[in-house]
Amino acid sequence: MNLTQKEQRMLNGEEGYAVRKSMEILVALGDIYGAESLIKVGSVQVAGVSYHNLGDAGLEFLNELARDGRVKVLTTLNPAGMDLENWRSLGISEEFAKKQNLVIDAFTRMGILISCTCTPYLIGNLPRYGEHVAWSESSAVTFANSVIGAKTNREGGPSALAAAFVGKTPCYGLHLDENRVPDIHVKVTAELAKLSDWGALGYSIGKKAENRIPYITGIAEAGLDELKSFCASVVTYGAKPLFYMQGITPGAESCQIPAESVRVEQSDIQDAYDNINDEVTDIDFVCVGCPHCSIKEIAEIAELLRGKKVSESTEFWVATSRSAKQLADKRGYTKVIERAGGKFACDTCMAVAPLKGRFKALATTSAKGCFYSRQNNMKTKMGSLEECISAAVTGKWS
Ligand code: F3S
Repeated sequence: MNLTQKEQRMLNGEEGYAVRKSMEILVALGDIYGAESLIKVGSVQVAGVSYHNLGDAGLEFLNELARDGRVKVLTTLNPAGMDLENWRSLGISEEFAKKQNLVIDAFTRMGILISCTCTPYLIGNLPRYGEHVAWSESSAVTFANSVIGAKTNREGGPSALAAAFVGKTPCYGLHLDENRVPDIHVKVTAELAKLSDWGALGYSIGKKAENRIPYITGIAEAGLDELKSFCASVVTYGAKPLFYMQGITPGAESCQIPAESVRVEQSDIQDAYDNINDEVTDIDFVCVGCPHCSIKEIAEIAELLRGKKVSESTEFWVATSRSAKQLADKRGYTKVIERAGGKFACDTCMAVAPLKGRFKALATTSAKGCFYSRQNNMKTKMGSLEECISAAVTGKWS
């Protein structure tokens, strides 16, 4: 890879340990993927925040970088392993909280915004169309590439952090226009009636597209929450963090429609539900907000829960960013949800909190949430917000 004199000096260690380490990571990546140079990035989203996934080795790595590493661009954080304020009420141990706080301290010293959300685009990290960024977290990467039209590879935690310390990333993969061309036409004839149908659609398209970039037709309308749900699912069950949706996402109109095509019919949506849903009736955990709930979703939850009580046998979490929760506080939604027995899980989510062994069966609106909860040995049910609230109130999936 060709380096400028300044970049070479960074690699030689003239800007300190964290920048040298970061340059080593970026140059190694660039060499592997055939990048010719580094390009500037407008922002970074760093994943790998939960102590549950990092362990002591990860914490040590972060502390080493935090000694002299300071971010050069706007950098936001993915969810951590706990609500940073309210961890006790979510059943997190003192020991875990202590370690998680040390992780957060390291990120704070680096100059990163402790946003702890997978929806950075809702809280102020919103790139412009065509801007190069270096984001990790697959749902956010897919949203950035497809819905916003920014350009990012699917970074890992360390490579995103390296880009933040250098302000640049190797120019390969989805940073290059020639790699952003759709190569399979997906004709959707299925009707999408509820939020979870978008997760089912993502499952189906992800499986059919495999490693190709889908060009999707047949969808008349899509809201923000539907798109963020679709982004999370299509990349979880497929591979590429980029799609085009005719009439909905930017750049779709100027693409040539690929010759190879597949269809997604109503039976495919049903097939997705059949694969995601397990045989289970008793629900002990309901979690909505994967990706993190928007304020609009929180308002809907509050409306559905008003005057009801969450079952004693069930834990109900609303996973969201602290910023969205602050709006919910002001509007009175928090009171309604908490009075009903629901809990806010800010800064965290069902996939990165240490939940293994705590719950047997999850109900959620999210296809991605089901994928990761199965890895935590839970049975899963995916359905509408109404079905999830009903499961929270009765402790049963009906
Ligand atoms: Fe976000 Fe966690 Fe889901 S990071 S997309 S809420 S698995």
